[in-house]
Amino acid sequence: MRVHVALTPADASGLALDGWAAIAVDVLRATTTVVAACAAGCVRIIPVSDSGAARERAALFTAGEVLMAGERGGEPIPGFHLGNSPLEFTPERVRGRTILLTTTNGTAAMLGAGSAGAGAVAALTNLSAVAGWALAQGRDLAVLCSGDDGSFSLEDAVCAGLLVSDVASASDAELSDAAVAAVGLGRYYATRIGDLRHASRWARRLAGKGHSADVDACLRRDVTDMVPIVEAGAIVPGPAASARPGTEGPRPKTPCDVIGAPRAPAPPAQVPEGSPRTAGPQPRDVLRLTVRPGARFGRGAKPPEDPSR
Ligand code: MLT
Repeated sequence: MRVHVALTPADASGLALDGWAAIAVDVLRATTTVVAACAAGCVRIIPVSDSGAARERAALFTAGEVLMAGERGGEPIPGFHLGNSPLEFTPERVRGRTILLTTTNGTAAMLGAGSAGAGAVAALTNLSAVAGWALAQGRDLAVLCSGDDGSFSLEDAVCAGLLVSDVASASDAELSDAAVAAVGLGRYYATRIGDLRHASRWARRLAGKGHSADVDACLRRDVTDMVPIVEAGAIVPGPAASARPGTEGPRPKTPCDVIGAPRAPAPPAQVPEGSPRTAGPQPRDVLRLTVRPGARFGRGAKPPEDPSR
């Protein structure tokens, strides 16, 4: 399994993804919003390029069947039903509805994932579930980071790195250099996700605009096992992904999980009788990630061919 991470939209443009599985990531906030909307029971999300396209498509639906949502500059688009805050997409607002969504960076990556053999949408809130989905595809994998106005986005790279780390630790993965770099960032932030509030440019900007509750909601990890699936130009709620090896028995989830209601801490892991109790990653785990037989880093996997080069 070859694994590549497109760290910016420019890295993703021109990638030939036929036969590959592709995952779109825009932690702040578009893919977190899509995950929330799917977990809240929407019928589908149709990513569109701009507000004009959203209004045109909305006219094709009967009243009440469709909602227009999105942002520009982080603020809701005038005349639209919803903005791009995951906290707005509750069952009361979106259950049984189609959502036309346009955002600055995220919707382009979602449309990009649509050109692959199989496509899904990831955020920190459904990370483990998407790793399970990616493993179940049995395809080469490309993670498409939405970026920040065309530039590198720290939170997207961290999310991509954590995702690839999960997939690599359960498969015979061959990582591209960009994927290795993302894994490094993912491992650094794995125990300090909250630091992204200050380290991420867009997180600081969103907080400055009064959206810090959104930032908090977007930086929560694994609060749903919902995997939104990209198919035929739309995104539909996928089946709850099968648990990743070693994490059998996903917990039942409720929409309020998605918007960050506090949850009881998980019971301590069962350590077999007589085995040494050590904190932190087990030596075996670390070895599996960094020197697992067959897992080759850098100089191994080539990103999917770019026919234009
Ligand atoms: C984007 O797509 O650029 C972001 O999701 C914007 C936002 O945070 O609303």
